[in-house]
Amino acid sequence: MKQGFNLINGKWFSTSDYMEVTNPATEEVFARVPLSGEAEAAEAADAAYEAFLKWSKETAETRSNVLYRWHQLITEHRKEIAEIMTMEQGKPFDEALGEVDYANQYVKFYAEEATRIKGEIIPASSKNKRILVQKEAVGVVAAITPWNFPAAMITRKLAPALAAGNTVLLKPSQETPLTAIRLVELAEQAGVPAGGINILTGSSREITCVWQADSRVRKITFTGSTPVGKQIMKDAADTMKKISLELGGHAPFIVTEHADIDKAVQGAMSSKFRNGGQACVAANRFYVHERVAEEFTNRFVEEVKKLRTGNGMEKSTTLGPLINQKAVEKVEEHIADATAKGAVVLTGGSSKSSAGFFHEATVLGNVTDDMLCMYDETFGPLAPITTFKTMDEVISRANHTPYGLAAYVFTENIAEIMELSGSLEYGIVGVNDGAPSTAQAPFGGYKESGLGREGGDHGIHDYLEVKYVSLGF
Ligand code: SIN
Repeated sequence: MKQGFNLINGKWFSTSDYMEVTNPATEEVFARVPLSGEAEAAEAADAAYEAFLKWSKETAETRSNVLYRWHQLITEHRKEIAEIMTMEQGKPFDEALGEVDYANQYVKFYAEEATRIKGEIIPASSKNKRILVQKEAVGVVAAITPWNFPAAMITRKLAPALAAGNTVLLKPSQETPLTAIRLVELAEQAGVPAGGINILTGSSREITCVWQADSRVRKITFTGSTPVGKQIMKDAADTMKKISLELGGHAPFIVTEHADIDKAVQGAMSSKFRNGGQACVAANRFYVHERVAEEFTNRFVEEVKKLRTGNGMEKSTTLGPLINQKAVEKVEEHIADATAKGAVVLTGGSSKSSAGFFHEATVLGNVTDDMLCMYDETFGPLAPITTFKTMDEVISRANHTPYGLAAYVFTENIAEIMELSGSLEYGIVGVNDGAPSTAQAPFGGYKESGLGREGGDHGIHDYLEVKYVSLGF
């Protein structure tokens, strides 16, 4: 049985109680990690605060060099990290490798960005004054990360936080703690000082309550569900912490009559089936113009039928298991609800009865907006297709949701591109692009999909305070 450890102030440790880690492809427990709680959370906050006082005073170049080394170590260990990820999260090994590389892009990007944090000198209205604006690290940052992208959601938070001079308290998801632990081991090896990153696995509630109550923790960054994000936002108000929230989505995928259907099918495959649909940016509902609906649907179904469901460690697998039984049941519930209301299953439709949390890639036709899958995030391999007639109609239907993370538009018509990208109330619009996520770009949502941006230079500003120094002479 593999054993993971927690880290506080440069010391790795275990606890007498522990949590088990299950492989979702086999349902076998293959590892265990500590069950840290309130005492460890308080100790970690002390360590992070002490470390902050020194790390924030290091030169930008020193911090940048540490991040470059971390990037190098992740590159050297990419296969090992990907294997851990597939074991605990389920995604096919090649996809896990892709995620490690994607995660590592953030480390490199913020190694570069660390040296580009600049201030300003603003013309003053008095001759004997100067207005200086400088950027400073926020302080101790608590990062709470999800299971669906066990590496990328960590580096997307930790790399900019460290680059800006903050120190980190990391609480990874209970389902995928081992990828997180391995990344932190490598960060330590790269030269992040004791207390710079502290990682705790265990009770989310106990750990985050301590961090929320601690006024030295100046920022909480969270990726996960909208209800939990709302609670974090409320709790952060007591000590007026900064917050970054990357929450749920319900992405519309629009194919107009002027779309290149090959591109649209490719885009649909990547935006829907990346990580088996377990992504906040996953296409959740497909709106296809009635003139091209038959062609798009037939070709999409053909491609979906080629997906091979199985254990992510098998070479032939292109669709892994879902994270747990509850996730399978949610897909089943959405299919049952839709078919009861008149949808037809065009391919797939079933879950597997043998071991592993598998559900077939499923496409539904004859879908209407009153079906659960058209307003509730499925987080699984289900693609419901409906048709539309006019641009106004599709814009209104696509925006009719409390979410606003990602939307996709497929058309070759420039007027349609401008109209749709301008009218969709979403933080990310993929135009003829089913995979817009990248380290250089700002990732984040409108409405109940969250607050703040991660990635790009926007992603580091969320970890900085602005200080105005009024200099009289
Ligand atoms: C997510 O959807 O949870 C994040 C995926 C990404 O970075 O693209």
